[in-house]
Amino acid sequence: MLDFINNIPKAELHLHIEGSLEPELMFSLAQKNNIKLPYKNIQEVKDAYNFTNLQSFLDLYYNGAKVLITQQDFYDLTFEYLKKCHKQKILHTEIFFDPQTHTHRGIEFSTVLNGIKQALNDAKNEFKISSKLIMCFLRHLSQEDAFKTLEQALEFKEDIIAIGLDSSEIGNPPSKFEKVFKKAKELGFKLVAHAGEEASYEYINEALDLLEVNRIDHGVQAIQNEQLMKRLKQMQIALTVCPLSNTKLKVFETMQEHNIKKMLDFGINVTINSDDPAYFGGYLNENFIAVYKALDLSKQQIIQLAKNSFNSSFISIEEKQDYI
Ligand code: HPA
Ligand code: ZN
Repeated sequence: MLDFINNIPKAELHLHIEGSLEPELMFSLAQKNNIKLPYKNIQEVKDAYNFTNLQSFLDLYYNGAKVLITQQDFYDLTFEYLKKCHKQKILHTEIFFDPQTHTHRGIEFSTVLNGIKQALNDAKNEFKISSKLIMCFLRHLSQEDAFKTLEQALEFKEDIIAIGLDSSEIGNPPSKFEKVFKKAKELGFKLVAHAGEEASYEYINEALDLLEVNRIDHGVQAIQNEQLMKRLKQMQIALTVCPLSNTKLKVFETMQEHNIKKMLDFGINVTINSDDPAYFGGYLNENFIAVYKALDLSKQQIIQLAKNSFNSSFISIEEKQDYI
């Protein structure tokens, strides 16, 4: 079964490129760019990855991202992830990036985007991996700042399929970004949002009603409300669930307590994803395997999860011909 999981073709729909920064690359970029890290060596970095909630992770994640300076740095970061995709039989990936994390440090939007884009092009040629880019707004910042970021993205509109919403969830509800999401929709972007990761299931209803998203990222708190569960089943909207992230950030104490199997059995369109693999101890296959081992998924359920990942992607009908 482990061979089956490792070799089944998959798509990944919830991956923060800054969250794929492995400690080794973090250290080498810090040295090259003369950035001081609060760690003496790689082991100290790994030891620091002991999180109690989302915020305790985000603090380290934003600090780690400070080593990314040049276009080549963003290229290297992205290409390293794509090499992992190739090894793990990920044929298609939809990658989040957080421009504000970088523009607020004085890095040009174009430096970030062009570095990522070049790596995606090379992986398409070298590994036949297809990809899309999703630009996320940081929800702890203002809607006005999100509007500025949307403005900067317009020059690169053809390179960005969707707009997303991430960072500190509690206290920053989807309603805070209603206007900027409306504008993004008018401009033709697809929409996603992190909702119901550790905040109330009500944030999922808000993301659906006020932001009109095409997918929900995480969404595991839906289980708190029967009516919402029925709504998600009826809509067949995808939830991009990230099991190792959820246990590392203490959304669930153990993988045995994770609700992904319950949601799958209920008929909700769930997918498995890695979120920030360098911080949470595993890429996509490790997420599948952890769930399989803890919750005893059937082979049929593994196939269903892999199918859901392609069916819920933003691959267009025309592009789908490539997968038949
Ligand atoms: N949640 C919110 N923001 C994030 C995450 C996450 O899991 N990962 C990176 N930014
Ligand atoms: Zn995420």
